[in-house]
Amino acid sequence: MGSGGLAGKTVIVTGGATGIGAAIATSAALEGAKVIVDYVVSPEQALAFATTLASEDAGSVEAFDADVSKVDQVQALVAEAVRRYGRLDVLVNNAGIETRQSLLDTTEADYDVVLGIDLKGAFFASQAAARQFITQGGGGVIINISSVHEDWPMPGNAAYCVAKGGMRMLTRNSAVELGEHGIRVVGVAPGAVNTPINAQTAADPAAMARLDAAIPLGKMALPEQIGDVVAFLASDAASYVTATTVVVDGGLMQSSPGL
Ligand code: BGC
Repeated sequence: MGSGGLAGKTVIVTGGATGIGAAIATSAALEGAKVIVDYVVSPEQALAFATTLASEDAGSVEAFDADVSKVDQVQALVAEAVRRYGRLDVLVNNAGIETRQSLLDTTEADYDVVLGIDLKGAFFASQAAARQFITQGGGGVIINISSVHEDWPMPGNAAYCVAKGGMRMLTRNSAVELGEHGIRVVGVAPGAVNTPINAQTAADPAAMARLDAAIPLGKMALPEQIGDVVAFLASDAASYVTATTVVVDGGLMQSSPGL
């Protein structure tokens, strides 16, 4: 078992079967954490991923079927972590989707799906986790995987930007409310990361060239470059970090007027 900063801790990663979530789960498990990833889209992928990691002498990764846009299901996810491991130490609100539609084109149904997963899911998972942290005592950590678009408009991705802007304030408001219980709440804002959410861009060489040229560090992030930062922020090495967002974007937001 790993001996990093998350050794022995119970960690939930929502949307943890693929993309940034899988990298976060991997980083945490390699440090010795007991990780639960939820899945809704792809049970096979989640279960295969969990099994691979479990065989690597890390901590452990198990999968649980929960749709974070349903409050009873996020409550069940937190309850499952506690049932399996007796407590919860870290919640990573990572599950997120985007539909790449403008304000003018977004339907009510698309809006509800994006806001339901990206913001409502994070809100009620935070509530369930915070209640558990308070009940068990000793504090806890919530990491919200936001985006540079919590601050930075992305024309043509309206509902997503609204959700991430909301997540920015979720981070700040819940950190201020929960600080007295020793609970830290930290946002992490990736830029462009090589995950399924960017598959369309990755498949278009001209779009990729434009994107890479806009990033001071020259290329999209690998998911593990986000996962390692999250593992650090969730550990006691970051014990005085709360109510803020750490941008992990290779400099993209500072250099580009918008893509
Ligand atoms: C979005 C991507 C976008 C990136 C940089 C992310 O939050 O999900 O679609 O490429 O930000 O703009």
